[in-house]
Amino acid sequence: MNVRDLNDVIKIINNRCTVRAYEPTPLSQEEIEIIIHSAMRAPTAGNMMFYSIIEVKDQEKKEKLVKTCDNQPHIAKAPLVLIFLADMQRWYDYYVASSVPERCASINQMYRTPDESDLLLACCDALIAAQNTVITAESIGIGSCYIGDIIENIETHREMFNLPKWVFPITMLCYGYPKQDPSKRIIKSRFPKKFIHFIDTYKRFNKEEFSEMFQIFEKELYVENAENLGQDYYLRKTGSAFAQEMSRSVKVAIQDWIKKE
Ligand SMILES: Cc1cc2nc3c(=O)[nH]c(=O)nc-3n(C[C@H](O)[C@H](O)[C@H](O)COP(=O)(O)O)c2cc1C
Repeated sequence: MNVRDLNDVIKIINNRCTVRAYEPTPLSQEEIEIIIHSAMRAPTAGNMMFYSIIEVKDQEKKEKLVKTCDNQPHIAKAPLVLIFLADMQRWYDYYVASSVPERCASINQMYRTPDESDLLLACCDALIAAQNTVITAESIGIGSCYIGDIIENIETHREMFNLPKWVFPITMLCYGYPKQDPSKRIIKSRFPKKFIHFIDTYKRFNKEEFSEMFQIFEKELYVENAENLGQDYYLRKTGSAFAQEMSRSVKVAIQDWIKKE
């Protein structure tokens, strides 16, 4: 037996693809419960669950998210939309409720508030929980799509969802029954393993190796000003308007997160 088909979990991982077109059928409460439960069973740093999940039920909010997340209409059509928040606020509210700052002062110990490291740790927690839901949903026939653009427009998202200082929306997921026949789904290629998996030390690549890396990828250029695939990717993704908005928004979020009161 091929190791890729060793068991049902591995098969699900290998046959998953992002689903952006959903049947309008709502998910049952039981299905939503299973999805949330699978998030909460994910590994979490120190078993502290540095994340929260907002289920966006309000259709007006979904419509607004279409616009604030780079005009992606499938958000408003998804029967289930979850925002995964990196969340240190709950713990710091708990610390204050437990008189931790006063206790630290009385024993001469520094009381530290969340910094960049806490933000990254909380993002790890939130993303690991999010991915558990993707696999769980897939295993019960429900497709999903990450919306990375939720990290844009931080000011609007804070206001929409009442997000305090130490809460950052690191990712969003749309879920629903796929419109497309599962037998017709396209499983996208990945780069060859040698470009991703290293033993003991990091490796950088030269021009010839990069051509090999992209060999199995489509060669079509989408951007008019691009002369090659590297330029096409940069102009379409890394250097695009949405990436610039991400950059601005995340800078604001990090500055606010680390700002001392
Ligand atoms: C962090 C992250 C952000 C993403 N953001 C979006 C998004 O905003 N919109 C979208 O349609 N797909 C988004 N995707 C889905 C990717 O485009 C998709 O995973 C990729 O093209 C590979 O396709 P596959 O998931 O079918 O293998 C995102 C995926 C990840 C992991």
